[in-house]
Amino acid sequence: MSILKRVESLRRDYSGEALNESGVNPDPMKQFEIWFEEAVKAEVPDPHAMVLATVSAGGDPSARVVLLRGVDSGGFTFYTNYGSRKASELSANSKAAVVFYWQELDRQIRAEGTVAKTDGDGSDRYFASRPRPSQVAAWASQQSGLLGGRKELEERFAEFQSRFKDLPVPRPENWGGLKLYPRSIEFWQGRPNRLHDRILYVREQDRWVIKRLAP
Ligand SMILES: Cc1cc2nc3c(=O)[nH]c(=O)nc-3n(C[C@H](O)[C@H](O)[C@H](O)COP(=O)(O)O)c2cc1C
Repeated sequence: MSILKRVESLRRDYSGEALNESGVNPDPMKQFEIWFEEAVKAEVPDPHAMVLATVSAGGDPSARVVLLRGVDSGGFTFYTNYGSRKASELSANSKAAVVFYWQELDRQIRAEGTVAKTDGDGSDRYFASRPRPSQVAAWASQQSGLLGGRKELEERFAEFQSRFKDLPVPRPENWGGLKLYPRSIEFWQGRPNRLHDRILYVREQDRWVIKRLAP
C-alpha cells in the first residue's frame, strides 16, 4: 500500500485535560500567555510558529508560517518584508487569521482580526537584535519576487555583505512588524472520543464574551 493511501488510517485519540468556560482567564490574551508558557514547558518545538492566512483583493486565500515575535493585550506581532505577497494582500484587505498547533499538548489556538503595520522604532529595535546574516538576508531577499536561480540570491547576499562591511546593518525600509489585532480567539483542547473542548472569545463593543463551540 502506498504511504499516501495509509493517510486515512492514521489516527490517535486526544487526551488533554478539560477546558472550561469557568476555568479560563476572562482575557484571551492572558489565556494565550498561560497556554504559551505551558507549551514552552512541554518543549513544543517552535511554539511561536503560527500559520498566517491572508486573502487577496480577488478573494483568494493563502497561508504560510511566520514566527510570533511579540504579544501584548492588543495582539500578535510578527516581522516580514512589506513587499511580500502576504504584506501586499494585507494592504488591500487587512483581515487575517493565525493558527498555532501544539501537538504535544493537543492544543490549537485560532485568532481572527485585522492587521496593521507596527511602528518603525519597534521594528528597528527588533531588527537590531537579529543575527547579522539575517539582517543582510533581509536586504538581499525581495521576498515573494521571482528569482532566476539560487545563484542570484547568493550574489545579492554577497553584494550586501560587502556594502555593509564593518558597518552596522540598518533596517531596510520595506521590512518591519505587522500586528494582528484579534476580534475573536478560539482555544481548542483535544479530548477523548473526539469530544474536544472549544472555548471562543468574541470581542463585543469593548469586552470579551466567552462562548463554547461544538467540536
Ligand atoms: C518555521 C518558519 C518560520 C517562518 N518565519 C517567517 C517570519 O517570521 N516572517 C516571514 O516573513 N516569513 C517567515 N517564514 C517564511 C514564510 O512561511 C513564507 O515563505 C514567506 O514569508 C513568503 O510568504 P509570502 O510569499 O506569502 O509573503 C517562515 C517559514 C517557516 C517554515
